[in-house]
This record gives sequence, structure tokens and C-alpha cells, in this order.
Amino acid sequence: MCGIVGYIGKKKAQPILLNCLGKLEYRGYDSCGIAISASGIEVHKDAVRVRVLGEALSVLDGTVGIGHTRWATHGEPSKVNAHPHCDCTGRIAVVHNGVINNFYKLREQLADEGHTLASQTDTEVIPHLIEKYYDGDFVKAVELAVREIEGSYTMIALMADESKIVAARKDSPLIIGIGDRENYIASDVPALLDYTSRVIYLEDGDIAVVSADNVDVKKDGSSVDREEHKILWSVEDAQKAGYEHFMLKEIHEQPKVIRDTLAEYISAAEPAADLTVGDGGLEDMLILACGTSYHASLVGKYIIEGLVKIPVRVELASEFNYSGQASTRSRAIVITQSGETYDALMSVKRLKEEGCQVIVITNVVGSTVSRIADQTVYTRAGPEISVAATKTFVAQLIALYWLALPYSRVDIRRLDDLVMELRQLPVKVQQVLDNEAIIADYARQLAKFENMFYMGKGINYPVALEGALKLKEISYIHAEGYAAGELKHGPFALLGSKTPVVAVVTQDNTYESVITTIKQVKARQSPLLALVGEEDETIIQLADSVITVPQIDPLFSPVVNSVVLQLLAYYVAKRRGCPIDFPRHLAKTVTVE
Ligand code: G6P
Repeated sequence: MCGIVGYIGKKKAQPILLNCLGKLEYRGYDSCGIAISASGIEVHKDAVRVRVLGEALSVLDGTVGIGHTRWATHGEPSKVNAHPHCDCTGRIAVVHNGVINNFYKLREQLADEGHTLASQTDTEVIPHLIEKYYDGDFVKAVELAVREIEGSYTMIALMADESKIVAARKDSPLIIGIGDRENYIASDVPALLDYTSRVIYLEDGDIAVVSADNVDVKKDGSSVDREEHKILWSVEDAQKAGYEHFMLKEIHEQPKVIRDTLAEYISAAEPAADLTVGDGGLEDMLILACGTSYHASLVGKYIIEGLVKIPVRVELASEFNYSGQASTRSRAIVITQSGETYDALMSVKRLKEEGCQVIVITNVVGSTVSRIADQTVYTRAGPEISVAATKTFVAQLIALYWLALPYSRVDIRRLDDLVMELRQLPVKVQQVLDNEAIIADYARQLAKFENMFYMGKGINYPVALEGALKLKEISYIHAEGYAAGELKHGPFALLGSKTPVVAVVTQDNTYESVITTIKQVKARQSPLLALVGEEDETIIQLADSVITVPQIDPLFSPVVNSVVLQLLAYYVAKRRGCPIDFPRHLAKTVTVE
């Protein structure tokens, strides 16, 4: 999704802006651009990668500038639609993240008033509105312009001959990085890690006037205090550390992520959240999320229903926002690794309006969701750069186990065993990683197919969904995850020698039923790769290939199985020569509907 950056200080702005934009590439984009203020405003933009834009430029002189990576919403990816956009005089430049709902009306009004707009974007109305309201006071003009805009308008404006840049936040994240007689602005923390660890998170409706040695945040025309935070992520956390791709590095970080997340929870004096059941406490639970976080939520259903023994309803946040019956009688969990996903944020707002207590699970300290939830449970996965979520997914599962275990209604011996097994997870995941070469071998065999099914049952049904999602997003193979019992209700028509099936087999009450489905799949000639928790003669006889995963209680098997499927997707995509970290058309943080 669009990334925005700004710099004002003593150094040349161009290399800093390009470096910061490079760090935001992971959000997903199709074009990029910068505007530098020197003698006038100079704009360079195109539908190219940040590196290519930089290579085509000589170093410009200005020490003030803004930059943008665009993920097209209004108008195709092209040079004219790329940001920054300027007013008629070319003295005002704007970068924007969001969607302006009333832009047609504004465009027509501006055209009637004599403004010429060149692009198909909604953003271009902003510099023209600022131009319209400018009477010598740049900040005032921005304030008046944003009042006209309906929708989301997180943006930065730059004006020739001004020693300040003006940033406004509405519905998408924006942070100010504090330096030594220089200041930065960015959509996201990783953009700034090379320069500063001191940040201010802007809130909705804030307008920040940023100069080299001052940051003045205003709300409704008056200055407000916004707390400065220290970022704990390091530069190394957001680098590849010798791995070919961020995704591979992030897969390999998972034993540490589990340890760090568990250590944080274990050291806390209190349970992560109150899930007390009955007597005025919880009667049921609702979990909402999008994408991979939705799959973690589905695993959460099995965890909470199995341990806490209350019914759990899981919904896609994007669907929940349009459903008739929103509220739950008790409490809701919203899971979002970025803390910025539009649909997830809207669902938190709706739940709160309806009087529901909302616990969020997120990976990003200071993210928007953490500021509107009743309670935030952080995962400690560190920055995840690859668009395809891996370590944040596993960290979300750990958070869910940890939320549920203190309220577990299983007998104490079983509970002790489970806590022991949970602590073993980093070692078990490391064992999966040690098997990487074998998994890569199977991946090479699967890379030649164009369609694939993943199946699982019970707690590993969502794992099949997540495995298929990983494969399709990074390898572009059409893959579908299915509940094992549902394959016969349609997908069987597509089975055959050209459509492999990956089966996640669990040694729990689903085992016999999954074996039956495997036999049915084999009778239809599909190549079958099975993941099993131990040497299993039945499966070895039935399946074409078998990956043995470390033995663990079935409750925790989603963690080890997911890591296998992440590696499988990675090596299939690698074999097919795909751009693994930045898949086409996808964005890491989806801040629009
Ligand atoms: C995008 C990302 C996915 C992510 C989903 C939900 O589609 O590419 O990796 O799972 O958004 O994101 P969230 O930040 O809410 O977990």
C-alpha cells in the first residue's frame, strides 16, 4: 500500500528519501516519486522501482523533500498518476495515502475555477485545494484544504521557499522521526530505522508542521502534545542478514520469535487478557481479522473452544463490517499484525460503538489499532518485511495459546503437559528448519503444476487454508485450501494427475477421517504429499511423498505444520523465479477498503 516519506534538515534530501522509500517497498507498490525543494520544486516520478528511479537521477541540491511509493487505486500505474502531484503553479507538491471519496466533486469544482488536473488520481485535488486557499500562509492553506476532503487523507505537503513541511493524518499511519536538527516523516517505522529511533505517532485529525528543529502537532487549530516513543526494532531486524529473501530470513527467525513472544508473556505478572468464563464473564467469543491473521483466528477458534470451552465465532473483518448482527454478548479479539488494516480497524470501531470490549493482537507498537482497542496484546515478531506473512502468523498463534491457557478448563495434568509442550515449540520448529533441504526437494517437484489443493481437518484445517494462501501469493500457482471433508463436494471434479493435493494429517480424532479422504484422492490419481507427525506406515503406503514433522501435541501442530508449508511455498516460488518478497499486485499493509 502507498508509502510516504519526508525529510527536512541540513543534508541532501534526495538520497535519504530514496533510502527511506526503499525500506517501504515491502508495503507493495507499482510506481514511485520524489519532490525536492531547492530553487523551486523539482519532481521526479515514474512507474518503476525505487532503485531505477534513483539510478536515473543525479543528486539534487535541496535539503527538504517528500517521497512516495504508490499502490494504484484511482488510475493505472503510470508516470502521470505517480505521486508527488503538484498544483498549477508547480510550487506545491503533495504525496498521499488513502482514498478521497468526494474527489469527483472536488475535481469538477476545481476545474470550474480554472485548475487544470492532469492525472486520473484522487490525490491531485489536494495540491490544487492548497493552491486555492493559499494567501501567504502555507499551514492555514493545508488546514483549509483537508477540511474539504471526505475519506482518508494521510499526506505530506511541500511548498517552494518554505522552511517547513506539513503532514496530515487521517485513517492511515504517519510517524514523525526526530533527529538532531533534522526531522523525518514516514508511513512506517522500518523507513526510519537507519536514521533515528525517536518517533511520534500522529493521531487521526492531526496536522504536523515539521521544520528542521521543531515539530508542532495541531488538532482543530490548537497545538497538542504527542508523546515521543523509542523504537525497539534495530536496523539489523529489517535487513536480510545474508538470506536471499526476507521471507526466508523471517521463516528462520521463528524459533526466536516464539521464544521472545513467550518470554514477554511469561514475565508479565498478569494473564495477557481476562477470559474468565461464566458468572458475568465470558459466554462466547468473536474473533475478527483479514488475510493470514484470519487463518490464525480460525486456529484460535479450535484453541479457545478446546481449552476454555466456550463457543467461538470467527469472521472476516471485511464481511463483519457489512453484517446485520454485529455485537457479541461478551468480548471480541481482533487480530492484525500491522495494526493498520482498514477492514480490521473499521471492525474495532464498530465493535466499540456497540459496547463490546475489544482485545487486539498486533505486532506493531503504537499502531492505530492499539490506540483504539480496550486492550492490546503484542506479539514480538520484530519487523516483517516480506509481503507474505510468516513469523507474525506463528507469533499470533503463540499469543492465542497464551491467552487461552490460563483460562483452560482441562484437567491440571493435561494443562501442565501443554505448558511443557508449548515451551518445546522453538526446538520443534528448529527441527523443521533443519529439514529444509528435504522440503525444498519436494517443492521442486510441485513447482511444475498450475493447480493444487491443500487439505486439513480440525485444528489443521486453517493450516491448509494458510498453506494454500502462501503458495498462491508468492508462486502464483492457483491453490485452494479445503476442509478434508469438503473436497468431495466439488473439488473432486478437478482432481487428477495434474492437480496435486497436500494433506496435513494430525494424530488426533480427525486421523481416520483424513485417511479416508486421502484414499478417495488417490483413487482419482492426484499426486499426494502428506505431512505427518510421526513415521506412519499407513500414510507411507498411501501417499506419493511424506514429510515427517516433529512430534508435538495436536493442539500445537499448526505451528510446526505451518512452518513446513511456508518453506514449501518459498521453494516452489523460488523454483519458478518469482519475486518472492514483493508479489505482484499485493500489499503488506492494506490501508484502504
Ligand atoms: C495483507 C498482507 C497479508 C496480511 C493481511 C492482513 O493482505 O499481504 O500478509 O495477512 O494483509 O494484514 P494484518 O496486518 O491485518 O494482519
